[in-house]
Amino acid sequence: MIVGSTKENSKEKRISITPETSKNIINLGLNISLQEDYGVHLGYSNESYKNVGVKILTTSSEVLSKSDLLCKVNCPSLEEVSSIKENSKIIIGSYDPVQDKDIVKIFSKKKINAFSLNLLPRITRAQSMDVLSSQANLAGYRAVIESIYEYEKAVPMMMTAAGTVPAARILVIGAGVAGLQAIATAKRLGAIVSATDVRASSKEQVESLGGKFLNVESSENLETKGGYAKEAGEEFKRKQTAMLENAVAKNDIIICTALIPGKPAPKIINEKMIKNMKPGSIIFDLAVTQGGNSAYSQLDKIVVQNGVKIIGIQNVMNKLPFTASNLYAKNIFNFIRNLYSKEKKGFFLNMEDEIIKETLINKDI
Ligand code: NAI
Repeated sequence: MIVGSTKENSKEKRISITPETSKNIINLGLNISLQEDYGVHLGYSNESYKNVGVKILTTSSEVLSKSDLLCKVNCPSLEEVSSIKENSKIIIGSYDPVQDKDIVKIFSKKKINAFSLNLLPRITRAQSMDVLSSQANLAGYRAVIESIYEYEKAVPMMMTAAGTVPAARILVIGAGVAGLQAIATAKRLGAIVSATDVRASSKEQVESLGGKFLNVESSENLETKGGYAKEAGEEFKRKQTAMLENAVAKNDIIICTALIPGKPAPKIINEKMIKNMKPGSIIFDLAVTQGGNSAYSQLDKIVVQNGVKIIGIQNVMNKLPFTASNLYAKNIFNFIRNLYSKEKKGFFLNMEDEIIKETLINKDI
């Protein structure tokens, strides 16, 4: 059985197999084939892979045609999919079954079993495979670092002979995985941190990290059984807007992370709030790929409005691709380990396993 991976597109720096996880995959009894110079941009030479037993092939089509299981970060291109042989092939990645629906149709036509780790159930057993968590955690961290880089003032309070520098105030909107890491990072850097979320259960987590929770009183239960947010009703939105009109103006940096699964990102920061912010303030909109939480935010642009910089970066993971790849590759390895049966010496699609059942995009094949 051969596990393979090819280079990603030019916009993606992450990879899904590192020399470390190659060793782990080979120890399961599997072989690995990678495209030449697969990890060179991250400092992983062809030799570092060969030294642990990986076969390096010259072209991507060689890897695609020989692999029984293909790992990718993004969906393979149409051209790549045409090189994949039909039947008994498996593809693992972090695809969006809606956005990538044309490719998914081809997977089905070619009888390829495609798994998207974006669809993993948030259960304890799946935590080591959870790409949404491993990547969102880094995104939250990096959003704070990028914001501080653009912020032209100091963040921690400093008492000097020349006078006192006040601490920056950072507000985090959405306290899920990315938001909680943003709070922790901002606290470590000396900011005064507050956060808000529609899920009342996040209050305790925000406070345990030293943040102040900004509550919106509501009679609605805005949390699903799976722990995700529901779309808020008009009354909640009105109350949230009133609360934030005051809070946003008092803060120097706003980190937006609010998402609702399967829906466009909720619009939370409006034009009026931005108009009332101090010039030099920053909004980092991590939700920009899903439409953004903030007015004016645009993909891969820093928009300056009223002296406020609104930052939208589509793939913030490209700012720390080494760390992101190491975690992503471990998630992929743990998923492969769950899929591989040593007794059967092959990949076993046990549809009784919630992890396998939920992540298989094209169950009908
Ligand atoms: P997400 O990326 O879907 O959303 C980010 C945050 O935005 C969420 O906290 C959500 O409540 C919040 N949000 C949505 N609409 C909002 C609005 N209008 N205003 C303010 N905030 C808004 O969420 P993520 O990070 O994927 O986490 C979802 C849940 O899953 C959390 O409860 C998290 O603790 C849980 N989780 C559980 C895991 C497990 O294995 N048990 C692993 C990872 C996450």
